[in-house]
Amino acid sequence: MNTLTLEKISKHYGKKLALDNLNISLQDGIYGLLGSNGAGKSTLMNIITQNIPCDKGGIITWNGTDIKQLGTTYREVIGYMPQQQELYSSFSAARFVGYIASLKGIPANTIKDEVNRVLSLVELSECADQKIGGFSGGMKQRVLIAQALLGEPKLLILDEPTAGLDPKQRVIVRNLICDLSKDRIVIISTHIVSDIETIADCVLFIKNGKVIDSGSVKELSEKVIDGEKNLENLYMQYYGDDL
Ligand SMILES: Nc1ncnc2c1ncn2[C@@H]1O[C@H](COP(=O)(O)OP(=O)(O)O)[C@@H](O)[C@H]1O
Ligand SMILES: [Mg+2]
Repeated sequence: MNTLTLEKISKHYGKKLALDNLNISLQDGIYGLLGSNGAGKSTLMNIITQNIPCDKGGIITWNGTDIKQLGTTYREVIGYMPQQQELYSSFSAARFVGYIASLKGIPANTIKDEVNRVLSLVELSECADQKIGGFSGGMKQRVLIAQALLGEPKLLILDEPTAGLDPKQRVIVRNLICDLSKDRIVIISTHIVSDIETIADCVLFIKNGKVIDSGSVKELSEKVIDGEKNLENLYMQYYGDDL
């Protein structure tokens, strides 16, 4: 069982407070990070992956040890799919994922096998040698998920993995993520409730840089005041004013 804890995590961009004193503890399972645009989801993910620093005083521990002490040992447990990523359209899927594998420091003699493994997980083996430029949106997202799976990360962070997908592709990506959740912490950000409501073990509502509520889908649904008790209505309760 893995544990990631965040203590007193705040983030200012200049005067803008993007994250406001977050305290969260995560264990193996799927976490749905729900919030409207600008809530702070990507900032939080960028801090967890050490792409940006948090404000002074924040502490992140992985299995009980401060990640500052763990250094590259911590980076090696992370698989990350950023919200916006340049895909090299002239590369084949296999070449792109192989390129990321070498950037990640995966030993050269194991890259080919590892690329085949992750492309097979996202069911792209048959298209491995085709150019990404000709792929559908859903296939491109799966290439990005594949690169996040390199090296069997114990901490998988997917920033809006279903962005821009049609309903059918959303379901495919959602089921794929569900299958990948064994023995690891998976964090998925989205502003679309249906992306996570059937697969998340825990949902975190984030608003104005704060976790305003968290719990299982069942627990949270009970908090709906008006209307049917489901996650969508709770989302409206919390974010209805933002629209
Ligand atoms: N590099 C940046 N510089 C200044 N402000 C930023 C930067 N990145 C994000 N922000 C601001 O921080 C807040 C949170 O943004 P973000 O984490 O991207 O939210 P989300 O991913 O939930 O849409 C927003 O108000 C956004 O405008
Ligand atoms: Mg974002």
